[in-house]
Amino acid sequence: MNKTYPFEQSPLPYEADALEPYIDRQTVQVHYNGHYKSYVDNLNAALEKSPEYQNLTLEDILKKPNDIASEVRTPIVRNAGGVYNHMHYFNGMTKDGAEGPDPDSELAKGIDDFFDSFENFQKEFSAAAAGVFGSGYACLVASPQGWLQIMTFSNQDVLPISHGYVPLLTLDVWEHSYYLKYQNKRADYIAAWWKVINWQACEKAYKEVADKLKPFSFEDMMR
Ligand SMILES: [Fe+2]
Repeated sequence: MNKTYPFEQSPLPYEADALEPYIDRQTVQVHYNGHYKSYVDNLNAALEKSPEYQNLTLEDILKKPNDIASEVRTPIVRNAGGVYNHMHYFNGMTKDGAEGPDPDSELAKGIDDFFDSFENFQKEFSAAAAGVFGSGYACLVASPQGWLQIMTFSNQDVLPISHGYVPLLTLDVWEHSYYLKYQNKRADYIAAWWKVINWQACEKAYKEVADKLKPFSFEDMMR
């Protein structure tokens, strides 16, 4: 997969019906082949007209959006956000997801430290996702200091990365991610999404953040 222009969709890491009955096949197909693909196509179309930015990665674009000239910034940054958010959303799910992270993982310990318990984290995350006004995302992020936090953001903003945060778990709550099956019942979609989370990917992403901080006594900071 190219890291710069021309961008490609990250491969769907499961069959379109793998998340049934929680996320239905048709929704995955329309979401992945329609919505996600459009962001990739539109980003490439915008960059085609701006060759001076074709060597930028998604992270480069999203971390420093103001480095892109204002006349062309909106389509480049907005579509890069769409690509980035959808990549994390689709990669964050799996067939037969576990009930939660491995209890021995740093992620499980981090969740206990920062949210008191996994149950409490689930409750807070679900409430945050349900409370996103209109279209957007809820995201579990690790701060540059390794702290875990829940963030929400609108449309295709990518607040976590532009502030040095690393997204660990991304939930798309745009209506296109659930309307075919759940109609207006976003809370039911959120409850179903917990059944298909790829905790291993989430644990790995958090471990990478934690490992980078280890020389700075990450374990001490967690206490
Ligand atoms: Fe989406």
